Amino acid sequence: MNIILLGPPGAGKGTQARTLVEERNMIQLSTGDMLREAKDSGTEMGKVVADVMARGELVTDEIVIGLIREKLQGDKQGGFIFDGFPRTLAQADALAELLDEQGESLDAVVEMRVDDEALVQRITARSTCGNCGEVFNDLTKPWPADGKCSNCGSDDVKRRADDNEDSLKQRLMEYYKKTSPLLGYYYAKGGLRSVNGLGEIADVKASIAKALG
Ligand code: AP5
Ligand code: MG
Repeated sequence: MNIILLGPPGAGKGTQARTLVEERNMIQLSTGDMLREAKDSGTEMGKVVADVMARGELVTDEIVIGLIREKLQGDKQGGFIFDGFPRTLAQADALAELLDEQGESLDAVVEMRVDDEALVQRITARSTCGNCGEVFNDLTKPWPADGKCSNCGSDDVKRRADDNEDSLKQRLMEYYKKTSPLLGYYYAKGGLRSVNGLGEIADVKASIAKALG
């Protein structure tokens, strides 16, 4: 099964993708995580995208399509979860072509609906484990008091450079201008399912499971 998790910054795409990886042996393809890895390891591409990401703007279609193309050629396990990709109509068309080339198809597009006020609160309170990628939140899922990640025991707590109010405003603007048209695109293509992303993490997880059938 290949699926897209579609939603604004802070909708909970990464959080829910990790659950699907554990429970369905799927592969999470987060272009945001791939770009941050490139940035942290200091590659040429990483240097190019660092400022763009920090400002909350989208990096070029060419770069992210290239990243996804590479990953689709690897092991497919229980299928792919596209997290934060596609984000433009050009990326959506490219994904359809890439899947077609691999003899694969898209089974569902899950829209995660969350209102803007909740997004600001979630994003400004987020932290992530630098070792295993587990996602935390100062308000709803705080970094453990013993200072060690509850998933892997690392003490490498990270905050993202773009998790501040100014960058978030830009990220939201990019979402509404360039990414939200994909909802109409996938509705017309078929396969769009919407879930309420505002409940508890476990409730959202159950809604996604129901939507996927
Ligand atoms: P990316 O990394 O994809 O960021 P994003 O889309 O802005 O989304 P986030 O990762 O911020 O949110 P999320 O939905 O994963 O939420 P999470 O689960 O962490 O992209 C970053 C940048 O990279 C872009 O701005 C762009 O520059 C570039 N980029 C990436 N892909 C690109 C592409 N395809 N094209 C062009 N440029 C691209 O949850 C957020 C917080 O909420 C956490 O603290 C979590 O614990 C909490 N939370 C989650 N669920 C719940 C819940 N149900 N209740 C309460 N709290 C919750
Ligand atoms: Mg994410």
